[in-house]
Amino acid sequence: MKITRRACLPLAALPLLPAQPPQEANYDEARVPPYTLPDPLRFENGLPVRSPRDWPRRRAEILALFEQHVYGRMPAARPSLRFEVLEPATPAPGGGSLRKQVRVHFSAKDDGPKMDLLLYFPAGTRGKAPAFLGLNFLGNHAVHKDPAILLNPNFQRDQQARGRPLDRPLESFRGAEASRWAVDKITAAGFALATAYYGDITPDRRDAFHEGVHALFWRGGQKEPAADEWGAIGSWAWGLSRALDYLETEPAIDARRVAVMGHSRLGKTALWAAATDTRFALAVSNNSGCMGAALSRRRFGETVASISRAFPWWFCRNFLNYANREDGLPVDQHQLIALAAPRPVYVASAQEDLWADPRGEFLGALHASPVWRLFGKTGLPSREMPPVHQPVSAEIGYHIRAGKHDVTDYDWEQFLAFASRHFGVK
Ligand code: GCU
Repeated sequence: MKITRRACLPLAALPLLPAQPPQEANYDEARVPPYTLPDPLRFENGLPVRSPRDWPRRRAEILALFEQHVYGRMPAARPSLRFEVLEPATPAPGGGSLRKQVRVHFSAKDDGPKMDLLLYFPAGTRGKAPAFLGLNFLGNHAVHKDPAILLNPNFQRDQQARGRPLDRPLESFRGAEASRWAVDKITAAGFALATAYYGDITPDRRDAFHEGVHALFWRGGQKEPAADEWGAIGSWAWGLSRALDYLETEPAIDARRVAVMGHSRLGKTALWAAATDTRFALAVSNNSGCMGAALSRRRFGETVASISRAFPWWFCRNFLNYANREDGLPVDQHQLIALAAPRPVYVASAQEDLWADPRGEFLGALHASPVWRLFGKTGLPSREMPPVHQPVSAEIGYHIRAGKHDVTDYDWEQFLAFASRHFGVK
């Protein structure tokens, strides 16, 4: 089977990846090595987790292991946030929704790091709407063609800094990522949507921590995170929590029904956000792959060695010790999913996205399920990987759709059905 390394976005003109050497990845199920997964329901001292009352202690152990060895610790200190309404709720094109734009300042200084939230509310809902919250890759202006969305020059800054300056005006990127954000479907289903550009939190490149939120927490001359401190994924997840801080103050949104959602590296981020912040009521991982929902020990598609070579800044420095040593990792990714328990989690794969290991994503969801069963629930209701376009779901949902690494309307239809069921939306 010949597999070409897929581009990370359909927008060929916008490669977000640094140049990488072609990788010798395994795409042969027969070459997946035998492996033993760490047990989410066994304490580190070997004793079993017997009841839901034991879970908080076991959960704390697993969380600490992911902090120490994978994503790094987030700062304990709460920043003093300021929310600045850039645009009050205003009818949006199409008539089905209202748009609002809010700037979240991460510090007291106006020129400090800040993140712009773009919000769409369903028009005409009574009371507070449940919401999806997710980061975007290209700036809020790319989420919809809507001409009133403020252009985000940080996107331009980040492309320039990657050595890929834009060859066309920022304005022409309006709606460039719109196929991934089914705004009309989301609001028609009675949900609000909140999104922000991930580069507002920390630019996605090597040695860029001083340009994002990390520097707000550095102590005495610190210039980079310590070996067990947050990398970029940790900071993006932290940014999602700060967006939720804002949503808690937003009268149009029910902050107790916020689903955190993300695609690819931002799907890894969404799972880590749900793990670190239990206020998120539901999590959706779309094609999150290696160090998202996919089991690392399978070494299928992207591996710990490849991801830590290409994107070391996403993780804490300790993680880099596990390249080609997956069995030495004290955790595997089913435990990341399990950190959301007993809240609902949805995992989505794409058939051609072998780099993200669809089967490994399914198995991550399956092997997380015992934690839901501890709570008398089901988790994932199928032990067999379902065929394409046949979602399975209980408190964990899973589907694999035809096609490439992407977020499509089909994916959103499943996320909306799943969240509607769990949030009691008719
Ligand atoms: C790369 C990377 C993946 C990641 C993806 C993305 O392909 O290897 O781990 O999920 O980029 O974020 O688009």
